[in-house]
Amino acid sequence: MKKGYFITFEGVDGCGKTTQMKLLAEYLQNKGYEVVITREPGSKGLGEKIREILLHYDGDVSSDAESFLFLADRAQNIDEIVNPAVDKGKIVLCDRHTDSTIAYQGYGRGVDIKKLTLLNDIAVSGRKPDMTFVFDIDIDTSMNRVGQEKDRMESAGADFFNKVRNGYLEIGKQEPERVKILDAAKSIEEIFKEVSKYTEELFTL
Ligand code: TYD
Repeated sequence: MKKGYFITFEGVDGCGKTTQMKLLAEYLQNKGYEVVITREPGSKGLGEKIREILLHYDGDVSSDAESFLFLADRAQNIDEIVNPAVDKGKIVLCDRHTDSTIAYQGYGRGVDIKKLTLLNDIAVSGRKPDMTFVFDIDIDTSMNRVGQEKDRMESAGADFFNKVRNGYLEIGKQEPERVKILDAAKSIEEIFKEVSKYTEELFTL
């Protein structure tokens, strides 16, 4: 039985992670691997409904309620998409996951990180990414890439995003084995060389 893998892509809005995830999916498929792509929030069904609230609801949303919504979406994604595929020996690439909650709701909004970790453990029921890429970029560049049309999360402002960015860097320091921090100011090709190299290394462990 082939071993499945779960790889996550993280970083502030506009960091270029989705482009890299698509490149990796293509690269692995060309090598004959079975790849499944998913995202948080909202890859399908219930998750899409939750995504709609998280990104477009225009009333008050408390930080705890926001956290629970992201976690509810995560529980569904793990159960419906990630676990069945990894258990069948597939490679699952996920656009955002647990580290987004720690960086955005924890470091960004100030929700207690121990509490978030505890609740997150319940949502993921033991599944942890085998590897995580964080695409690190300065907030001016990130905001320019996002442009004028901002969703609810993207409207949070530069102070918030600086905290989120520092949160990711802190997570990277705490878990250097799993979390690879990449300089997202480099060219797409240069970044992808690093992404594919780390992924190949993971498969030979
Ligand atoms: P999305 O449009 O998917 O952004 P991106 O293309 O940058 O991934 O919107 C997801 C937003 O939700 C993004 O601003 C990050 C935020 N988010 C959290 O705050 N916490 C979380 O746990 C997750 C998964 C996402």
